[in-house]
Formats: sequence, structure tokens, C-alpha cells
Amino acid sequence: MSTYAQEVKRVTTHTLQEMKNRGEKISMLTAYDYSLATLVDMAGIDVILVGDSASNVMAGHETTLPITLDQMIYHASAVVRAVKRALVVVDMPFGTYQGNSTEALRSVIRIMKESGGHAVKLEGGQEIRESIIRILSAGVPVMGHLGLTPQSIYKFGTYAVRAKEEAEAARLLDDARMLEEIGCFGLVLEKIPAHLAQKVAESVSIPVIGIGAGGGVDGQVLVLHDMLGINQAFKPRFIRRYADLHTVITGAIQQYVTDVRNNDFPNENESY
Ligand code: KIV
Repeated sequence: MSTYAQEVKRVTTHTLQEMKNRGEKISMLTAYDYSLATLVDMAGIDVILVGDSASNVMAGHETTLPITLDQMIYHASAVVRAVKRALVVVDMPFGTYQGNSTEALRSVIRIMKESGGHAVKLEGGQEIRESIIRILSAGVPVMGHLGLTPQSIYKFGTYAVRAKEEAEAARLLDDARMLEEIGCFGLVLEKIPAHLAQKVAESVSIPVIGIGAGGGVDGQVLVLHDMLGINQAFKPRFIRRYADLHTVITGAIQQYVTDVRNNDFPNENESY
């Protein structure tokens, strides 16, 4: 009897490139734990991002800056144990790659050896070029991330749309071309004007995945807890809610509390 693991064909960076070449859109979502990663993978997602948004979503921090390398490895290894099909990309946390390329490589080696992830994502362009080259030279696939890069929130001062001005848009396009040239397998564009994102996707041959970057790119990524409606406090216009799990989960828990208080749970069939 064949298992799900034996039946499925794994998504690789090459699969994503072929999808872009064929004009097929790529789907990507975050996951941070075994149980939800199992569901995300079985539902047919192409790429699972173990995002440093775990810092917000899992740990309740205000920004992505506090999450550590050890914590990212913990989340990533749980996701990797769940996933049979999707490509698992792991975010490099703030402070583990910006210093120099040796430090970047050391951090990546820990991620790859200890989590079993398939690729890493780094935020930034020209300023982290050397680190990316060093990581790529070790045979580790790298995804870039431009536009709104949350690890730089204190430089930006706001989570507003980036690259609306011509100079920043031109820099972003140059960075995207540079990331392609040095060998990144893909690129995330976050919260930039749709026309700019489309121009980037048409200017580079590698897959460009958008979040708040319109429909003219090669694929989309969302934070799982946002699209499932678990987290209702965060509602920028680029999020589409596919479920209202906040209501479903709190409703179920309220019912459980009522049943326990009324001695309705457990009943005879639920007892030994
Ligand atoms: O950490 C994250 O969830 C991300 C996505 C928003 C792209 O980087």
C-alpha cells in the first residue's frame, strides 16, 4: 500500500522556475508548527515559508526583530517533519546575516543541518550581496525579499507601502536584477505598488512572489493566521480572509466551558 509521502512529487526550486516559465501561478503560505503545516501541505500549497513573522504570530512580539536563530530552527524543524510535498523556505532572523558573510554562512549551516529546511529567505538587496553569494556558494538556495522588509521597521518608521517614489522604485528594480544575477531562485516583494511589482516580475526570469504587491507577479504569499481569520486585529487591504477561525475557535471553547460547568461533558459514552 502506498503512502501519501510515496505518492507525491516534491516541489523544488526547479519546479517553481518551470511554473513561472509556463505562466502557472505559485501559491505560498507561512506555517510555524507541525499540526498546521500538515494541513497546509496536504491542501496542496507549493511553498511553505517558516516566516520570522512567527515572532508576531507565535510569540506575540510587536516586530519580527526579537526572534532568535534557535527559535526559527525549532519552528522550521517542526514544519519540515510535517511536510511531504511543499518546498520549505526558512526565514533568516534579524542579526544572523547582516554582520558579514562568514556569520551569514554559519547561521545558514545551522538552519539547514538542524531544521532540514530546503532553502532560506533574507531581507535586503545590495547591502547583503556578499552574504547571499557566500550562502549560494555553499549550495543553499536563497530567496530574496524586497520592498517592505519588516526587519528594517525602525529605519522605515512605518509599515506603509514602499517604493512609491521613483528613486526607491529604481533601486528596488536594480536590487531585483542583482538578486537574479547572483543566483537567487526567487524573490518576495512586499507591499509595493502593483505596477512596479509587475514590472519586476517581467524584468527578471526567476519567480516573483507578492504580498500586497498586486496580481501581476508569479505567485502570492500570505501569513496563514491572517488568511484563516485567527488573527483579526491585523487587517491591511491585501489580506483576504478565507475563514473566520477566530469565531469558530472561541465558539467551540465557550461551548466546552459551558458543558464542563453544566456537567454535560463528559457523558456516558465519553467515559470508561
Ligand atoms: O515572515 C513572513 O511571514 C514573511 C512574509 C510576510 C513574506 O516574510
